Amino acid sequence: MSIESPNYKPLVFAHRGASGVCFENTMSAFKEALRQGADGIELDVQLTADGIPVVVHDKDLSRVAGIRKPISSLSLSELKGIKVGRKFIRNFAGHEIPTLSEVVSFCALNHLALNIELKETVSERPEYLRDILNMALLLDQVHISSFDAGILERVKMMESSLEIAFLVKKKTTDWDDLGKYHFADGFHLSKSLMQEPYLSKMVDSGKILRVYGVTGKEENIRNPAPSITGWITDYPGRFK
Ligand code: G3P
Ligand code: CA
Repeated sequence: MSIESPNYKPLVFAHRGASGVCFENTMSAFKEALRQGADGIELDVQLTADGIPVVVHDKDLSRVAGIRKPISSLSLSELKGIKVGRKFIRNFAGHEIPTLSEVVSFCALNHLALNIELKETVSERPEYLRDILNMALLLDQVHISSFDAGILERVKMMESSLEIAFLVKKKTTDWDDLGKYHFADGFHLSKSLMQEPYLSKMVDSGKILRVYGVTGKEENIRNPAPSITGWITDYPGRFK
């Protein structure tokens, strides 16, 4: 359905899966997102020591697994032996960290859109970008996002057909010269930027807009700017 249609509804992306009720970036969280009726999922990609793209938000395992080791110091087989989420739930065995390849297959099978966010270890080793882009190209509805404009510009040069979304920040974005983000097809803004002067600047850019950090309880999402095409939320069920 076209965005101009009066019946158009923004797509709902489950942020790190349905992370409001499941441990983030796990197959459980992605399955729950599907169950709640999400149109797509958002996830974070880091690289293992052997260059495999894996789905985990932080650079190291302290917060998610209570182990003070960087993801980039472990091979995929070592990482698969570690469970995340245990410290949050008593007597819970934890979950495996999925590979990007596993989640892409899940999205393809279930017709879910995918937002792949490139994190620090991908920026540090761009020689592995090609593997990530090849996986993204397997999906019909996919876009690549990052806070790192440099890595996104590189992605666009390598694969111009892929949709690119720059994650804008209040402090680090050049609000007076948004033209410098010409390589991006879209902007993803945090809900704190759903106010003036930021919102008008975003809308005037003419780019695809999505908003992250929304919980479904905000007042200002009831009458969103018409160019907002997606919500990225921990609670996809509330939006459906
Ligand atoms: O979709 C944007 C959002 O995911 C960026 O923040 O920290 O959750 O990766 P973070
Ligand atoms: Ca993210």
